[in-house]
Amino acid sequence: MTKTILTTSAGAPVADDNNSISVGPRGPLTYDNHYTFEKLAHFNRERIPERVVHARGTGAYGTFTLTKSLKDVTIADFLQNEGKRTDVFIRFSTVGGGQDSHDFARDPRGFAVKFYTKQGNYDMVGNNTPVFFLRDPSKFPDFIHSQKKNPRTNVPDPRMAYEFWANYPQALHQVTILMSDRGIPASYRNMNGYSSHTYSFWNEKGERFWFKWHFKTNQGIKTLRAEEAAVADPFGAQMDLVEAIDRGDFPSWTAKVQIMTEQQARDAEFNPFDLTKVWPHDEFPLIEVGQLELNRNVDNYFAETEQAAFAPSNFVPGISSSPDKMLQGRLLAYQDAHRYRVGVNYNQLPVNAAKCPVNHYQRDGAMAGLSPAGGNHHQTSEANYFPNDRDNAPKPDTSVAEPAMPIEAGAWLDRFDTGEDDHYTQAGNLFRIMTDDQKQQLADNIAGGLGQCDASVQQRMLAQFEKADPDYAARVAAALMA
Ligand code: HEM
Repeated sequence: MTKTILTTSAGAPVADDNNSISVGPRGPLTYDNHYTFEKLAHFNRERIPERVVHARGTGAYGTFTLTKSLKDVTIADFLQNEGKRTDVFIRFSTVGGGQDSHDFARDPRGFAVKFYTKQGNYDMVGNNTPVFFLRDPSKFPDFIHSQKKNPRTNVPDPRMAYEFWANYPQALHQVTILMSDRGIPASYRNMNGYSSHTYSFWNEKGERFWFKWHFKTNQGIKTLRAEEAAVADPFGAQMDLVEAIDRGDFPSWTAKVQIMTEQQARDAEFNPFDLTKVWPHDEFPLIEVGQLELNRNVDNYFAETEQAAFAPSNFVPGISSSPDKMLQGRLLAYQDAHRYRVGVNYNQLPVNAAKCPVNHYQRDGAMAGLSPAGGNHHQTSEANYFPNDRDNAPKPDTSVAEPAMPIEAGAWLDRFDTGEDDHYTQAGNLFRIMTDDQKQQLADNIAGGLGQCDASVQQRMLAQFEKADPDYAARVAAALMA
């Protein structure tokens, strides 16, 4: 059958796609219109749940090229040999809005990279900001609710966001980034990506190193002022990426890492696993390790980008997690979301499938067998249990055992209130390196939302700005009065 003959979903040729079978030209329809019904029934099932966060986004394929070997710190295969190229899929997104929202919302941007390595898929699920609003995962649903639409009016409501932030000063650093000129990237090509979290590398000697990813845009940072964003094309960021790749203007990022030894982590005066803080660049310099390039658009947005499933727990030997409490929460959250949103066999879909053999004893479930027979997913082997007596069945490989992770000696199991910590110095440092224009944009952007809040929320926010820098508070106070 050629591609030009219309068929049913079972492959049978269709003679007439315009007219249902009816009793005479005026109807009614008869019971044997199974073809019409197939179309209507499939249409009813076209939607799957959108991502609960990061619903609006766009993705593309590309390549990561290693320019500096990291073999001293990790056994990860794709980070061994300079010049090694690894296929990637990247999805960029906004966070709070649904699929029907705007590309140029003032919002962090997701920066999720799937590396298809020969040891399995490694996902770097980061944002365009080096820190985050929270440091305990139990606050994530509360925080996201405060960013979403008002539950009564179904309209975005900045009063909710500031009410949360007034009660949660840990967020001040990220709030300062979000409300600054960096808060609205001019395109996905003109922003950086960060792991934000601290992760770990481990090498063949079993030594562990803490690290963070930084992906610096080679297109330069470009941002939109609030008034430019207000009149921008709602689909502008998505179109910009697709069109750039279509015309061969491939966007790229320089990949860098910051690395910290276990001893340095023990000696550090700050908590290196606190997601609301950056690591000082003078103490932990950025080391350039590779180039990330996007060079191929998807063929089908839904099949590939919408069904792409990124998980911070997708590690490969040589890369692992850290004690960061937020990261620990994320290690469980994503696969749970994928099973609900896409289905239990989401890892068999081409965009998610590893490009190396996949051998395990999980079986069946909705849509099992999506991977073609003879493909990488060997779910058809005879044994479906382990241990077994078969020489040719999959077995664990002890050579990739992760070294033990240290915890603080004598640590107690409890709920730790971190309210004593310094939420202000790094936010103030960021404010102090801004130009006068950037400081004014920051104050004006904050006043736009904070001006709608009640006096108590305004006072508590001003008190936070004051602790970061008195000039920060003075500028916001003046903008509120203007
Ligand atoms: C405890 C904190 C967090 C929780 C529980 C959480 C949960 C989620 C969930 C459920 C999704 C949707 C997944 C899907 O349906 O495919 C998601 C998407 C995403 N999250 Fe988080 N998240 C957290 C924090 C973060 C942080 C700190 C970052 C960045 C550093 C981040 C970056 C992303 C990105 C980029 C996506 C979109 C991935 C894609 O393009 O498919 N999240 N998150």
